Amino acid sequence: MGKSIILLKKDFGPGPSTLKFTFLENGEKKTGFALLFEGSYYVYKNQCQHLPVELDWLDNNFLEDDGGFIICATHGAIYEPTSGLCVSGPCKGKSLNTMAYTITRDELVVTI
Ligand code: FES
Repeated sequence: MGKSIILLKKDFGPGPSTLKFTFLENGEKKTGFALLFEGSYYVYKNQCQHLPVELDWLDNNFLEDDGGFIICATHGAIYEPTSGLCVSGPCKGKSLNTMAYTITRDELVVTI
């Protein structure tokens, strides 16, 4: 069985909100984030599709000011929260990498 990261639902703010987490991939430290948006959860790797950099300059700051889209802090790529599709910016048409997860009553269990 693979490794997993457990996130507590109670640790999310009122949506839209995100929780950042760290995991190891091939021995390398990576980060991801879970997004609560309009009552549903989405989990993505924290990697822009333009360049191999993390999306957030300020820790756990993944959303545009109005909370409607995910934004990359480096060059402003805009991603749809529900699909991860880049709809504006240098990587338009590419999508964030999703991470598998299951939901229990109180937790999100992200598969690594
Ligand atoms: S690195 Fe994300 S838009 Fe350029």
